[in-house]
Amino acid sequence: MDLSTIEKAIDTKVYHIHSDMKVPYHEHAAQDEVFYCIKGEGIGIVEGKEVELTVGSVLVAPAGSMHTLKTDGELYVTALLIPVNRIICHCKQVTYGDIRMAMVNGARTLEEIKEITGAGTGCGNCIDDIKKILGLACGCKMITMEAVADAVKDGANTIDKVGKVTGACTDCGKCKSLVQSVINDER
Ligand code: FES
Ligand code: FES
Repeated sequence: MDLSTIEKAIDTKVYHIHSDMKVPYHEHAAQDEVFYCIKGEGIGIVEGKEVELTVGSVLVAPAGSMHTLKTDGELYVTALLIPVNRIICHCKQVTYGDIRMAMVNGARTLEEIKEITGAGTGCGNCIDDIKKILGLACGCKMITMEAVADAVKDGANTIDKVGKVTGACTDCGKCKSLVQSVINDER
C-alpha cells in the first residue's frame, strides 16, 4: 500500500461532547481509534476501564474494543480512525477482513464461515469472536445483521432506505457492501 492510500484510509474527526450528551458504548471492528483531548476534560472508557482525559491526553481504543466518552462539562477531542485487519483465528490465520468478505459473499452462519475461511476449525477459541462478527452489520452504529435483515424484509430495498430505517451505513460507510449483500439475499 502506498503512502497516499494509507493517508486516504485514515479518517479524522473532531467531537464536541457535553454533559447532557450520551455517546453510545460502541466499537469499530476494523479500525483502531486514537483520541486526543484538545480542550475541556472528561472520561474515556475502553472495555470498562475509565481513563481521565485532560488537554493533551491520548486514549487508544483498539479495533473491536467497546468504548465511549463522557464529561460533566465539555470535552473536545480529535479522533483518528486507523484501519487494521486483526487476526481473528490464530490457528488458521484468518483475519477480520476475510470473515467480513465471506459475509459480503453470502456467508451468514458459523458453519459457512468455517467452510469458506477455515476460521474456527482448529482449537475453537475464536468461535465467540466469529459469532460476534456474524451478528453485527454496522460497527459504527452498532446495528445488528438481524435489524438489517428485518428492515430489508419490511421493504427497505436500497442501502439508503436501510440507512434511514436502521442507521446502518450512515457513518464511515464501510458496511455498505454487506448491507447490499443482505438486500440481495431478499431478491
Ligand atoms: S483460534 Fe480459531 S480455531 Fe483456534
Ligand atoms: S460500519 Fe461505519 S457506517 Fe457502518
